[in-house]
Formats: sequence, structure tokens, C-alpha cells
Amino acid sequence: MSRMTIKHWLLGAAAGLMAAAAQAETITISCGAVGAERQLCEQGVNAWAEKTGNEVKVVSTPNSATERLSLYQQLLAAQSPDVDVFQIDVVWPGMLANHMIDLTPYMKGAEDDFFPALIRNNTVDGKLVAMPWFTDAGVLYYRKDLLAKYDQPVPQTWDQLTDAAHVVMKGERDAGNDKFWGYVWQGRAYEGLTCDALEWIASYGGGTIIGADGKVTVNNPQAKAALTRASSWIDDISPRSVLNYTEEEARGVFQSGNALFMRNWPYAWSLAQSDDSPVKGKVGVVALPKGGDDGQHAGTLGGWQLAVSKYSKNPDLAADLVRYLTSYQEQKRRAIEGSYNPTIPALYKDQDVLAAVPFFGKLYTTFENGVPRPSSVTGDQYGRVSNAFFNKVHNVLSGDADPDTALAALERELRRLGRRGW
Ligand code: GLC
Repeated sequence: MSRMTIKHWLLGAAAGLMAAAAQAETITISCGAVGAERQLCEQGVNAWAEKTGNEVKVVSTPNSATERLSLYQQLLAAQSPDVDVFQIDVVWPGMLANHMIDLTPYMKGAEDDFFPALIRNNTVDGKLVAMPWFTDAGVLYYRKDLLAKYDQPVPQTWDQLTDAAHVVMKGERDAGNDKFWGYVWQGRAYEGLTCDALEWIASYGGGTIIGADGKVTVNNPQAKAALTRASSWIDDISPRSVLNYTEEEARGVFQSGNALFMRNWPYAWSLAQSDDSPVKGKVGVVALPKGGDDGQHAGTLGGWQLAVSKYSKNPDLAADLVRYLTSYQEQKRRAIEGSYNPTIPALYKDQDVLAAVPFFGKLYTTFENGVPRPSSVTGDQYGRVSNAFFNKVHNVLSGDADPDTALAALERELRRLGRRGW
């Protein structure tokens, strides 16, 4: 290079650097922190930041979806520009649609590669409110070694689960582990209980609380049978403290080796399989049990989406981050490292993904046919519907109400909420 060219080059490079510096922006994203969520989120956003020369701040949010929602509602009601990208629950698009931008122009057709049902779920009045980041369905974790030791089958029905839990609990307790329990799940009065209880009711053929036509269906004999069965577990195969468990408390007990069965989402798999896990190599995953021989296996559809706030000062960059985080490659990394269910069907055929999380293949139909909570039909009322439901169920589980009285009261409350149409 001649001197003149070097000088030009240096000038040009300096100008480029200055322009880049001037343009570097900071985007703030709210990520969940359940299990390894925060770490995986940070790795993803850092890769984008490096690629684009921008900065990303990650803010953590409460683990309970119910508490997270009220935090978001406060921020959004104040039209705060503090958070650009929100991680939102699959049941929130109807409630938060007015605060989010339409992502359609940014996705440039990439949304066609995603599960159509999720894209439909996230589309409110023609607007793509959020992109599906990972999907979820409730599954049953079990201890392979203990079922084999006590010669018990992998349960197909709740009755079988209860019977196996009795046998194994007795054996393990007689052998000296007085902390050992049969079944742990999410019993706190919050969104997680809505998911668990919907599974019980749907597995007995008792519907989905509110039908797709908006009619309140929850007060029925199958729902009663389901709640009666679940409340019988307290102090029998489940500790009373389960009434205050979210996902992570249940995982804590199961992963430390003190429970035979656990109801949880797929994220718990990679943690149970991690090197420091006492139950590594001893865990199996199947669909949740049926309510009886003519019941059905039912896993509630869960999952999280990424949405860009209308109050963001950098909507273009924020949408670019969403596009990156929801891309095939990034979802593949999260599936392999964190057993987060992809929202792109092709990833369920990816051999690397299937090798890391074998049940993604075996339980594909559970994920594809997850039982949706009635959020699309109740729209911005869903939060109230779910609150009414989990509070009443919690009353039954704690022994403060019998199923008949609770279901009749719930029916009245839901009808009142929906009186003017959902
Ligand atoms: C999981 C699900 C989410 C659900 C929550 C309840 O995070 O993905 O949809 O609302 O659990 O605790």
C-alpha cells in the first residue's frame, strides 16, 4: 500500500469506527430465570450484540408467571421505554396486544416456518404481537430405577400413578428416607396451578374450563372427579408443602432424589441430566396419565414468546434481536443445551436435537396437541379467569372447600366475568 492509500484507509477506518460507535445502541430484554433460562438468554443476546455491535441488557423477572404478568402490566401501563423486548407467556397476547408492535414486516415471511397454531395464537386482530420462542407442554418425569426396583409399571392412569407412589414411598421410607415422596407438582395459587389443574380436568374428559365458544363448562362431573383425585394426594403421596410449590420447588425435591414422580415442563430434563444431578441417568419422561381407561393424556400448552414494546425507542433493532433469538440456529442451541422445545417443527427432525432430548421425538404429539388454556377466547379477561380458577382449585386442595361447592362458585364467577361477552 502506498502512503497515500494507507492514510486514506486509516481515515476511512476511523470514520467507520466512529459511525459504528455513534450507532451502537442498548437494547433491554426481560428474560425468565427459571432453571438455566437466564444463562441461555444471556448467551443468545451476547452473540447478537457481538454480531451487530450493539449492547444488550438483560433484566430478570419473577419466576411465577402470575407475578411476572403484574410487573409487565405496571411497566406497560406507565408506557415505560425501559424494556424493549418482553418475554411473554403463550396466554398473554390477548392481554398485552395493545402495548406491542406488529412484527409481521420484520419477520419477512420467516414466521411461515413456525407452528401455525402458535402464530395464530400470537396474532391478535391481524397483528403479529409476538414471535414464539419456545413451546411447552406438561409432562411426567419418573424414576426409572425405582419403578424397576419395586416392579411397578410406568403409569398410564392417575390411579396407577397413585398406586405405584404408595408402594415405592413405603419401601423407600422403610429403608430410612423419611423425606421421600411419591409425587411433586405445582400447587401454589398461581398460573402454574391453572396448568396442572387443567391437565387433571382435561385428562378426565372434563373440558378446558371455558369452551372455544365462550361457554363456561368447568362445573361438570369429570372435573369433580379430577379435583377429588388430586386433593386425595395431599399428605398422602404429595407433601402438604406442594400447595406452595412452583416449578422450581418441585424440581428441587425431584432432582435431589426425594420423589418418584414429578409433573413439570421439558426444561427440567437437561437440569436433571446435568453432571451434578443426583438423578442423572435415572429419569424417564412420558405423557401425563389419563383420568381413567376412557380418559386421555393431557399436557397443558405453555411456552414463551418475544414481543417488542410499542414504547421502545429502538423498535427496529429490538425486532432484529427477536428475529435472531427465534431463528433456527438459536432455537437449536437452546434445545440442545437447555431442553427448550423449539417452535419450528423442522427442529423436531434435527438429529442433534433428538440425540440431546430423545423425548422431543417420542412425545411429539403431546407437544403438537397441547391443551390450550382458554386465553384466546377470553382475550384481555384471561388473567381474571385464571385467577378465579387457580384460587378455587387451591381452596379444594387445601381442604377449605369441597369440589362441588368450589366448582359451582367458580362457574358463577366466570359467568359473571363473561356476562358481556369475552
Ligand atoms: C411455564 C409455561 C407457561 C406457564 C407457566 C406456569 O413457564 O411455559 O406457559 O404459564 O409455566 O407456571
